[in-house]
Amino acid sequence: MQVAHRSHVVDMTDAEALLALVARERPHFVVPEIEAIATNALAELEQQGSCTVIPNARAVALTMNREGIRRLAAEELGLRCSPYAFANGLAALEEASRTIGFPCVIKPVMSSSGKGQSLVQNAGDLASAWEKAQTAGRVQGQRVIIEGFIDFDFEITLLTVRAAQGTVFCAPIGHRQEAGDYVESWQPQPMAEKALRKAQEMAKRVTDALGGRGIFGVEFFVRGDEVYFSEVSPRPHDTGMVTLMSQRQSEFDLHLRAILGLPVNPGLYGPTASAVIRAEKVGWGPQYAGLAEALAVADSDLRLFGKPQADKLRRLGVALASAETVDEALARARLVASHVRVFGYAS
Ligand SMILES: Nc1ncnc2c1ncn2[C@@H]1O[C@H](COP(=O)(O)OP(=O)(O)OP(=O)(O)O)[C@@H](O)[C@H]1O
Ligand SMILES: [Mg+2]
Repeated sequence: MQVAHRSHVVDMTDAEALLALVARERPHFVVPEIEAIATNALAELEQQGSCTVIPNARAVALTMNREGIRRLAAEELGLRCSPYAFANGLAALEEASRTIGFPCVIKPVMSSSGKGQSLVQNAGDLASAWEKAQTAGRVQGQRVIIEGFIDFDFEITLLTVRAAQGTVFCAPIGHRQEAGDYVESWQPQPMAEKALRKAQEMAKRVTDALGGRGIFGVEFFVRGDEVYFSEVSPRPHDTGMVTLMSQRQSEFDLHLRAILGLPVNPGLYGPTASAVIRAEKVGWGPQYAGLAEALAVADSDLRLFGKPQADKLRRLGVALASAETVDEALARARLVASHVRVFGYAS
């Protein structure tokens, strides 16, 4: 919005509003940037044939729902995933937990950034996990997925680009999540060649099945040589913001080039990390302090997103830093983030 020639604010889950806007602007491409979107409108646009939906309407619909993508990856493609089941109510969830076992992770089928997600240790905590999924999910009365907990060594996002020249991979991005939400990421995540090859093969298969052009954030859990597919987003990934500094072509550049049919090059400069800056309070028009101290950190940079509203724990920006090693880069990124403070709000 801040750089576009024109912008509009509509509820993107409102199919009619979306269709009316597209009819008015007549774009060549529709590039969904969020999950909560009326996918039936995208399907209709695709049928009309007047614009290209990125990567395509089916991929957007399948990946916005954990059930769609899990059934495709595990049941159709046979990719290794955590054990899972779906439930429409507490009784069905209790039943499913007997096969999945504990600990397990309960999530609304439609949610992101860890919203409505619980790690459950025993049957006594299923009821509150069910409640949380209902109140924090994007839609009410939601189905949940129950997944066996994978005690992974580390997790990665493998940015996978479907471009005119074929499929290319960025170096693996390691990340740390708190309550299902990304707090820091680094690139490259050191990992065994064998595990990386497996992840790349799995990413290729799932992105080929989804089709279209653009970047995909494919998430994996890695334990020893075992690689588990977790989920995929058909768009730049939050953990991939590290590429704003680590790569000559960031994940956003790569997405755009792939969409436009231009050559892509996912080459890495060197070890780089990102650390998020989050709001502590709720308020309108957050104002920032500590920027000079933050930017005095060697080989660092900062992106403040210019969000008008701070919600508690909402991501307001990201600190970036590079160094000789990933550990040093991470220490620097944390330092940058620690200097930035939200000191007040517009009145
Ligand atoms: N089955 C599991 N075993 C172990 N950890 C898990 C499992 N499922 C989720 N997690 C942890 O929770 C994080 C968030 O889960 P997931 O990616 O499914 O949720 P999300 O809400 O879609 O998050 P985002 O939108 O940020 O990607 C994972 O990155 C991982 O750290
Ligand atoms: Mg995720």
